[in-house]
Amino acid sequence: MFTSIPIRYSKKISKQYYSKKLKILPLSCFHNSNGCCYSFSSSTPSSTTSTTSSNIALNKYDLSSPKCNIPESISSRIGTNLHLQPNHPLHTIKTKIESYWNTHHNNNNDDTNKTFVTRDDYDPIVSTQYNFDSLLIPKDHVSRSKSDTYYINDETVLRTHTSAHQTMLLKEGIDRFLITGDVYRRDEIDSSHYPIFHQMEGVKMFSEEELNEAGAMTQLDQLHYVEKDLKDGLEGMVRSLFGDVEMRWGIDYFPFTEPSFELEIYFNNEWLEVLGCGVVHQDIVKAVGRGDQKGWAFGLGLERLAMILFSIPDIRLFWTQDERFHRQFQSGEIVTFEPYSKYPPCLKDISFWTNVDGVKSTFHVNDLNEVIRDIAGDLVEQVQLIDEFVHPKTGRTSNCFRISYRSMDRSLTNEEIDNLQEEVRREVVNRLRVDLR
Ligand code: DAH
Repeated sequence: MFTSIPIRYSKKISKQYYSKKLKILPLSCFHNSNGCCYSFSSSTPSSTTSTTSSNIALNKYDLSSPKCNIPESISSRIGTNLHLQPNHPLHTIKTKIESYWNTHHNNNNDDTNKTFVTRDDYDPIVSTQYNFDSLLIPKDHVSRSKSDTYYINDETVLRTHTSAHQTMLLKEGIDRFLITGDVYRRDEIDSSHYPIFHQMEGVKMFSEEELNEAGAMTQLDQLHYVEKDLKDGLEGMVRSLFGDVEMRWGIDYFPFTEPSFELEIYFNNEWLEVLGCGVVHQDIVKAVGRGDQKGWAFGLGLERLAMILFSIPDIRLFWTQDERFHRQFQSGEIVTFEPYSKYPPCLKDISFWTNVDGVKSTFHVNDLNEVIRDIAGDLVEQVQLIDEFVHPKTGRTSNCFRISYRSMDRSLTNEEIDNLQEEVRREVVNRLRVDLR
């Protein structure tokens, strides 16, 4: 089983495509070899319905733009803010990281003792200017495509990362800040990918005087100083969460930092990437009117950290309303999640031609994922391409996908799955212009 962290502005993997490297990290701690990781429990299953909230946030927008691609399953969750729910594991991780930067980091390493401003309630609807342009993300970058990002119209998106707020706060003159929020990406379906997840963005700026006082006079000295402060700070943060773990730094690539790094930790016998970071690109510093100041930034996925720290095996669990999940967590406490169920998955295949004779296919797997998610909701566990071939005579491409249905909270009946699969087959034809085989 493979998984990746929800940071995509690196080019490594679909979720990290702002980096130039291509790498997928195995995270087998999330699964055993057959993909099951729950122990049996005899307690009564309760509802698996997802948290819903009103989509007032979208009310003020005209959703009739041809570019608008936000389904109800997504819009209904805007405003849920799992990271603000007091006993939720995501809230615990968020507060632990905030308190690290504002106590430990400041007291031990930093005599200026300024605090990090924390923001966690910014509207996730942002302009493409903030989400992409201000961060030097190229116009033709894959992250801007409709198959990857939820658009309201040409200029407005559901933020794809919390970095979207970076330049706004820099312009306001804030020197240190931590921004937490829900972010949205059209993506693959498996135990570690979900179209909504949560990130934290951290930034710390240094004035010319601060750098000089610290003895960093030349550009190069200043760069090294900022880089060292970043790495020391993040290593301290990781130790405050994971204890005395082994860590290693790698070089990465993000358009908004130069140089850029990734940090990995050795946990349960494997190397796991936990965050991306770097020195804020000098073109951004100049564009926000901060001249020759220097600063660092990092971005991390809260689900990723929570899954490791609390041993939560499936990202859908963060959205469950099942009491057997929620009663295990208390604000501020890191505990090992006790699985309460192990219900069998149900596998169904679907095969189709993605193009007609001689015409180039417009099919994108993320569109398929969305159709399935719209119909099956959180009952879909994974969608995998298991076979692909091109017909030698007609040139048509055939794809076969395996859909794994499994509830986190109860057993599914055959009838229920058959009905879902039937509906998926119908909608795939209606919405994706493919021919079932
Ligand atoms: N925004 C990046 C992503 O979602 C994560 C990130 C990487 C943020 C490096 C940063 C940074 O501030 O310096 O993929």
